[in-house]
Amino acid sequence: MESLNETQIQQKRSSRLILFPLPLQGHINPMLQLAEILYSKGFSITIIHTHFNSPTSSNYPYFTFEPISDGLSNTQASTSSDIISLLRVLNVNCVTPFRECLTRLLSENQEEPIACLICDNIFHFTQAVADSLKLPRIVLRTTSVASFLAFLAFPLLLQKGYLPKQDSQLEAPVPELPPLKVKDIPGINTQDPEIMYQLVACIIKETKASSGIIWNSFEDLEQSALATVGQEFPIPIFPIGPFHKYSPASSSSLLTQDPSCISWLDKQAPRSVIYVSFGSLAAMNETEFVETAWGLANSKQRFLWVVRPGSICGSNWIEQLPHLFLEKVSERGHIVKWAPQKEVLAHPAVGGFWTHNGWNSTLESICEEVPMLCWPCFGDQMVNARYVSSVWRVGVQLENGLERGKIERSIRRLMVEKDGEEMRERAIKLKEKVDLSLRKDGSSYKSLECLVSFILSF
Ligand code: UDX
Repeated sequence: MESLNETQIQQKRSSRLILFPLPLQGHINPMLQLAEILYSKGFSITIIHTHFNSPTSSNYPYFTFEPISDGLSNTQASTSSDIISLLRVLNVNCVTPFRECLTRLLSENQEEPIACLICDNIFHFTQAVADSLKLPRIVLRTTSVASFLAFLAFPLLLQKGYLPKQDSQLEAPVPELPPLKVKDIPGINTQDPEIMYQLVACIIKETKASSGIIWNSFEDLEQSALATVGQEFPIPIFPIGPFHKYSPASSSSLLTQDPSCISWLDKQAPRSVIYVSFGSLAAMNETEFVETAWGLANSKQRFLWVVRPGSICGSNWIEQLPHLFLEKVSERGHIVKWAPQKEVLAHPAVGGFWTHNGWNSTLESICEEVPMLCWPCFGDQMVNARYVSSVWRVGVQLENGLERGKIERSIRRLMVEKDGEEMRERAIKLKEKVDLSLRKDGSSYKSLECLVSFILSF
């Protein structure tokens, strides 16, 4: 990769990039981290965002924020109902406001030309808008590359009868997508699966039509999946992750992070705490919640547990916790509504992460060499969990439902048994690969240089 010459640097300093994140926490975080990376490379940044789940602009005084209408009703704006219909509606409602906003920005920014648009690839409608305005569009894919390949394979999986999933087939391997089993194929509970297949088909089509794909992943982690994507997509791909390791990023958290997590962790012994969090969308029913509580209590391990308000069906927060549980665990456990997750995972007291394996959580855990107890819930999470447990072998899966005895055994396996120790050793080696990829001349470093040159070539 050649370094940039003076003219290119000057050109870059007077270029603006327009970024458009999908308004969900697991998508906003990587897009804003990407914005910071590109800002540090000299580009000016404008973030177009919906009113729904709008980012806190005051945390980013050096970016310009442009809100657009999303036209969502209160019911539609609920992430606890049907995510697929939310994504479908957003792809319809945002077309006109987005086009109008972009048209205005193009006419206003004559002196600082807009080099390109960088959109979450779930916003598939943006390709047609970009084409009509003759603006190059690069997409950001916020999931793992391997899970994207599983989405890509939907037509084949439907044709071969793996989809819709049948209960009798869940444990069967999918030879076309090793090491996945049928139960690992991505899926989201929705009223009409046909709508999900159509949405995925649109996303794939408009990703192929884009000018390039940015991945929050890195070569050494997903080499073979990246090679396959390279064959399937006739456009440049830029695996420049993990994004959050480039610099201490500003907070793009939509919920307030409870700082008591860190003061509580400060009082705990090294690697004695299991951190439990299932991200911004996953939910559980009352029985699962109570089984989780007793599994944690009976494991006799210390725990920091994030119970997001509204994530337990039928209650606001932790009202359903048995009194006996609170007596039994006493100071051994700390329960919060939302945590500063990256700082928590980096804390020396944390020895394990019970996670739903959202891609951000998975990467954040890998980056702090914390082994995982995997409880994937939907979407790409099942694929991530399979890679964590069977390919990188830095975690163990909690399969076939939440039951207190099984939870207790799995936590002890992760935290105090030899198995867990071996996972931790592999996690340390994997973390070394993260560091190498980000170092000068590492794969992500070089890929970022290529991305910068690519943007300057427009
Ligand atoms: C969603 C999908 O579920 C996920 O599978 C997909 O890859 C991205 O979009 P989410 O479920 O929220 O995201 O999970 P995840 O990808 O892990 O993102 C959650 C983010 O919230 C992480 O960056 C995490 O650090 C942050 N977080 C989580 C907090 O800041 N505090 C918390 O208490 C929990």
